[in-house]
Amino acid sequence: MKLVIRYGLAALLIVLAIILLIPPFAASLIRQWSQSDVESRSVLAFNSALDEFTMLIDQHDSKKIVALFERMSLDEQLLAVGYCNEQGTLLYKTKETPKSFTCKEATLRKTPTFSTLRLGRLRLLVSSFPIAAAGARGHVVLLHDLALVEQRTAEARLWTIVVLVGVVFLAAAFATLVAILLARRWVHSLRRAINDVRLGGSGVMEASEAPPFAGEFRHLLRDLQLTNIPVDGPEVDWSPAMLRLVLTQKLPGAEVIVVSNREPYIHNREGAEIVVQTPASGLVAAIEPIMRACGGTWVAHGSGTADRETVDRFDRIRVPPDSPGYLLRRVWVNEEEQNGYYYGFANEGLWPLCHMAFVRPNFREHDWNEYKSINARYAQAVAGEAKRPDPIILVQDYHFALLPSLLRKKLPNATIITFWHIPWPNPEIFGICPWKEEIIAGLLGSSVIGFHTQFHCNNFLDTVDRFMEARTDREQSFVTFGNLESYIRPYPISIEWPPAGMKDQKPVPECRAAVRRRLGLAEHARLGVGIERFDYTKGIIDRLRAVDSFLVSHPEWRERFVFVQVAAPSRTKLASYSALQAEAAELAREINARHGNAFYQPIMLIIRHYEPHEIFELFRAADLCIVSSLHDGMNLVAKEFVAARDDQQGVLLLSTFAGASRELTEALIVNPYDSHSMVAAIEQALLMPIAEQRERMRLMREIVRLRNVYRWAGQMLLDAADLRKRRRIIQIMSRQQPPADLRMRSPAN
Ligand code: G6P
Repeated sequence: MKLVIRYGLAALLIVLAIILLIPPFAASLIRQWSQSDVESRSVLAFNSALDEFTMLIDQHDSKKIVALFERMSLDEQLLAVGYCNEQGTLLYKTKETPKSFTCKEATLRKTPTFSTLRLGRLRLLVSSFPIAAAGARGHVVLLHDLALVEQRTAEARLWTIVVLVGVVFLAAAFATLVAILLARRWVHSLRRAINDVRLGGSGVMEASEAPPFAGEFRHLLRDLQLTNIPVDGPEVDWSPAMLRLVLTQKLPGAEVIVVSNREPYIHNREGAEIVVQTPASGLVAAIEPIMRACGGTWVAHGSGTADRETVDRFDRIRVPPDSPGYLLRRVWVNEEEQNGYYYGFANEGLWPLCHMAFVRPNFREHDWNEYKSINARYAQAVAGEAKRPDPIILVQDYHFALLPSLLRKKLPNATIITFWHIPWPNPEIFGICPWKEEIIAGLLGSSVIGFHTQFHCNNFLDTVDRFMEARTDREQSFVTFGNLESYIRPYPISIEWPPAGMKDQKPVPECRAAVRRRLGLAEHARLGVGIERFDYTKGIIDRLRAVDSFLVSHPEWRERFVFVQVAAPSRTKLASYSALQAEAAELAREINARHGNAFYQPIMLIIRHYEPHEIFELFRAADLCIVSSLHDGMNLVAKEFVAARDDQQGVLLLSTFAGASRELTEALIVNPYDSHSMVAAIEQALLMPIAEQRERMRLMREIVRLRNVYRWAGQMLLDAADLRKRRRIIQIMSRQQPPADLRMRSPAN
């Protein structure tokens, strides 16, 4: 900075000196030239009249002498002509001769002499030429008006100043332009240096583009440890702010696009009104808080009856409705397409295939074709939303197995992280799918494929090994397929902490009282709850049967224990789902008939969608919660129950077949297929001392708090950042052309 000021001042002084010195110098030069020009004219005028004058002076013909002088003075710049005799008397003169002029003002020498004279406002050049004629000796004196010379001098000064100012201005403009261009290039290079350091890169920069102080700058950044704010490790508290920090620190300027089938906000028309609904979906519960924290674009199916009315002409709407923070881009799918792609291939094929819940998967060619065409439609939509050639695209779930490779073709530099929200079965089971190779090849367009557990990652690697011409690396857990590497990673999904559903919740005793009042339960009834989508993978039937067995084997709990099952209708178009709903309703009726009476119904089945605040209130009112999934990728209901219990009470019964059982080990882990163990667990829960409940709940709450959904997303973004860093290093290395055997293979971005 000091250097810049010093150079700036020096330049200013030089410019000032030029402006102050050059114009007077130029003016005096012009004056000299003009004056010598007048002197030459004077000599010319005198010489041309000399012979005639000598003759006339010899004749003492004063009239003719004056007439000759008048003729001479017709010259534009010659004001007057006179003759001074030897005594210094002005003998002859023209009419214009200033009255005050006398021969004393002229320098009368033996040679021609030129001098300047100021008479009042007149500035004159006085030329005197000696005459030595027979009849007389004296001097002819010519008076030239120097006004024209003065005028030329002034003009010369003015134009010199104008030209100088113009030249200085143009030079300054040119210098500024050059400086701006240089500064831009330097800023760009500096930015790269900073990013490079941030990303922990090698900091290699081509010499021609590196600003002179880039190296020092990098060191300074490292010294300040700006790049070393810890964003991983057990000590890190994951929050929206931490997620934003990961984005700005590790992925500066990155664009995030999420793709899922289910949208986070559904606009439905109810009479004259449009109501917004948040769907019952673990996926939505996990991704929504992340989008609120990071912004970006979420591409999803517009499934609401008023969805089209609420979007702009690009099918976009800003959400959440109460405080818009990201863009929802809706994709339209007609009924026939939905039947094939969503109900058919995704939910009658892949869903039962991946969940070993003993519902036979159905694979139909027509559904597969719809699935392919809808995946292609989403690829088009996502590519259309991308503002940069290298966005981070988070592809969600089994609806989009083909999307990663389609996107890879459209956006080769994108970082594609695909998360499979459901389990991945072993190769024998996956081998049932007639289009298994296409599904796996589609997924291998991803940079990273994520599952909830290491177990599912291993199943995927086994499946690739079994069916694909690909190389699997178990040590580092990646697959090389074609020219691309895809990393296979476990990312246990979770919920936000604290959950939005906890906002404005009343203390636990008030929730207990309110729920019991609303459901018409006895004030001291012990309450068990289950909440989920009505899905055959959730083990709802097995749970109801367990309650039935419990009341059979423990009749003392009749009228003292009630089980409330809330189930949101889901995929009801499919026979397997509507049949489940009918079966559950029938079973509840049977159990109630067996153990209930006019005042007591042990099972309360509520078939409707619950909003988050209702779910959390019910959890807070309960003594126990049963999650008895027959197979589940993770199961966020279990984590929500734990998050709801800030009183550190309540007991969780958790299926060993849900991914959550790997983390929530302090739950009572149950096998839903084993009714006997379920009954024992219900009894254990109802009899568990408060101190034990507290101890278990405290440990589980700590796990859910630390391993929240921001950590889930953060881990994926950190891996994305690592991949991008690797790619940069490979690019730099390939620019430097290392020997072929040292070159690294290019990972998918
Ligand atoms: C599971 C799937 C999600 C899906 C959710 C709800 O959690 O993994 O992708 O969103 O179920 O199902 P739905 O078919 O109603 O979207």
